[in-house]
Amino acid sequence: MTAPVRVGLAGAGPWARMVHAPLLAAGPETELAGVWSRTPEHAAALAADHGVANYPSFDALLDAVDAVAIAVVPSAQPDLAVRAANAGKALLLEKPLGLDVAAARRIADAVAENGVGSIMLLTYRFADVVRDFLADVATMNPTGGRACFISGAFLSGAFAGGWRLDQGALLDVGPHVLDLVEAALGPVADIQGHGDPRQWVGLLLTHENGAHSEVTLSCASAIEPSRTEVEIYGRDCSAFVDARAGARAESFARVRAEFAEVARTGAAHACDAQRGVVIQTLIERATRALDH
Ligand SMILES: NC(=O)c1ccc[n+]([C@@H]2O[C@H](COP(=O)([O-])OP(=O)(O)OC[C@H]3O[C@@H](n4cnc5c(N)ncnc54)[C@H](OP(=O)(O)O)[C@@H]3O)[C@@H](O)[C@H]2O)c1
Repeated sequence: MTAPVRVGLAGAGPWARMVHAPLLAAGPETELAGVWSRTPEHAAALAADHGVANYPSFDALLDAVDAVAIAVVPSAQPDLAVRAANAGKALLLEKPLGLDVAAARRIADAVAENGVGSIMLLTYRFADVVRDFLADVATMNPTGGRACFISGAFLSGAFAGGWRLDQGALLDVGPHVLDLVEAALGPVADIQGHGDPRQWVGLLLTHENGAHSEVTLSCASAIEPSRTEVEIYGRDCSAFVDARAGARAESFARVRAEFAEVARTGAAHACDAQRGVVIQTLIERATRALDH
């Protein structure tokens, strides 16, 4: 049997605790091989939960592992990712890659120069319902669509603070929904928008194939359950996905298996760092559209 890929985790915040650590520890394709975080007590606590080593520095973690998962604030991800890629480690990255396109490109360039595999954790793309939906849409000749990501995440709970409240929904959840609508309708030629990313954003996208779509984003709306939906229309057909309907355990098992594969082979992936640059560019264009 192939040995599991030994993955070190950088970060010990809510998402590292809830998703990265258990996902990597569950195996069999990966093994959680240790934790480093900026605050040593946070790393120690998460490492102890999983009975793995707690490293005093990011370099010490890099020396001990085959690959790295990074779950830190977007401003801190690029430097860590570039160091890891330069050390020849495959990368499980978070969305967004960074705060701007230049930072995202630094990561993608380091990945390409070092020939390491990468996956950005666009979680919905690993759900069977989303993969089935995108396969359906690929058989259609769509003329338009609508998509939304609406939640109350900025109002209370683990994600209601820090960079998310400063930057707003476009940077936080924009990667998910812009990725989905672009995967369905193709590259975006033009973006117009209105609203405030801290409250409510509406975007009008024109796709290169002539299709049009409307994208709604808010993390400041107290609806329960949260919604992540895409609907695509053609002249005589339509397709809809509730992206949250996929079983999370199965999606995360797919992340683990596909990450182990790209870590071993260095192969491209639909959600790799290069895709992250495309998404970051869309976010930047959408942000500019809101300013007009
Ligand atoms: N894919 C998804 O669906 C999804 C869902 C949720 C979150 N995420 C992403 O996961 C990442 C982590 O999110 P989060 O919710 O756990 O909370 P967060 O506040 O974005 O990040 C917290 C983590 O960042 C670390 N950190 C903060 N400043 C740092 C710095 N200057 N240098 C190094 N590390 C630093 C913290 O370390 P210490 O605590 O040790 O100081 C902590 O481990 C974010 O990029 C977020 O967008 C993705």
